[in-house]
Amino acid sequence: MGKKQIRVGMIGYKFMGKAHSHAYRDVPFYFDTDGVPVMQAICGRDEAGVKAAAQKLGWASYETDWRKLIERDDIDLIDIGAPNNAHAEIAIAAAQAGKHILCEKPLAMSVEEAKRMLEAVRKAGVIHMICHNYRFVPAVQYAKKLIDEGRLGKIYHIRANYLQDWIMDPNFPLVWRLKKEVCGSGSHGDLAAHSLDLARFLVGEFKEVNGMMETFIKERPIGEMSGGLSANVKGGELGEVDVDDASIFMARFENGAVGVFEATRFAGGNRNGNRFEINGERGSIRWDMEQMNTLQFYSAEDEPGMQGFRSINCQEEVHPYAGAYWPPAHIIGYEHTFINLFTELMNGIANGKNPTPNFEDGLNNQIVLEAVQKSAQTGRWVSIAEVK
Ligand SMILES: NC(=O)c1ccc[n+]([C@@H]2O[C@H](COP(=O)([O-])OP(=O)(O)OC[C@H]3O[C@@H](n4cnc5c(N)ncnc54)[C@H](O)[C@@H]3O)[C@@H](O)[C@H]2O)c1
Repeated sequence: MGKKQIRVGMIGYKFMGKAHSHAYRDVPFYFDTDGVPVMQAICGRDEAGVKAAAQKLGWASYETDWRKLIERDDIDLIDIGAPNNAHAEIAIAAAQAGKHILCEKPLAMSVEEAKRMLEAVRKAGVIHMICHNYRFVPAVQYAKKLIDEGRLGKIYHIRANYLQDWIMDPNFPLVWRLKKEVCGSGSHGDLAAHSLDLARFLVGEFKEVNGMMETFIKERPIGEMSGGLSANVKGGELGEVDVDDASIFMARFENGAVGVFEATRFAGGNRNGNRFEINGERGSIRWDMEQMNTLQFYSAEDEPGMQGFRSINCQEEVHPYAGAYWPPAHIIGYEHTFINLFTELMNGIANGKNPTPNFEDGLNNQIVLEAVQKSAQTGRWVSIAEVK
């Protein structure tokens, strides 16, 4: 049987646009998927910018209005890499036009929006996925396998941090990630969203949460960033920062486990410190994105005197996705997490089977995000049922 050509229309061409373009190019290079991406069209608002991006990133054509992209009958999949406030409108219109959808995280600006998005894709019967790429690190997939095999036994704890430091300079400008009307929340929806998605993947569903959020720098120079992570707007007019710089919460899970989560953009020296540790009755695991290929595993069943965390380089044939790349221990990086996720998307579309994580996960993650926000506002525990 021939492979199904999946013609992609992608919106947004900066950070995620680059990561996604790279992944579309590399899926057929490494994987034998049933669906093969065709980089049909890219979309951005600035014609000169999008034209240059189309050439550089390898797209056959471009559009300057996402509505035109969605109307095109030579597009099968809409890939949304625009800021958070654009996700719902684009996704709902794409679903109504019968397109399959990949949407960046967080899925939406609110639970209400996320519900409408899920309803739209269900009604249209299209394939949908949310781009929680950290699930697709081979070491994280292997952690999931160990947990599913019962090697940790009953899970007691998860402690997860997502630590960055890129806005610690008070002169760092008021970029879209610091404006509530564009992003919905700060470190919370940007970073905690990944940690809680990993927690749902590895530990289970949340039951209740208790959180706090803090904004350390309350005003910043108005202006966008022209690249890099350093402040480039000095002086000038200031605007209010109306999102959190840090978000911290405790959680109880349906299965009795408890969790502690910390997401911040003010953890100096931590450029992209995405980490978790999970402790169960039979063992523990630890993972850190800054050493993404290594999974640390402790087994309480090792013989006395030999107990302790062992470091497993999850880059052998037996580790999920790893065998598609290089000989053992010839390691992979950040961009491969997207390639791995996209293989599931391509197979899902080709075979009419919805992969995970999808809009249902996006909604469930949004519910946890909103429950923490509600708790931070009210100063009390908030149950997931209350926000659902
Ligand atoms: N999966 C991850 O780990 C990860 C990492 C970074 C960002 N993200 C998510 O990806 C999304 C984009 O983030 P980014 O870092 O790529 O941002 P970015 O600022 O680097 O790029 C955003 C792009 O969207 C375009 N855009 C904005 N509004 C548009 C519109 N109305 N029509 C067409 N194009 C529009 C911009 O011109 C730009 O090309 C966000 O939702 C963010 O949360 C996910």
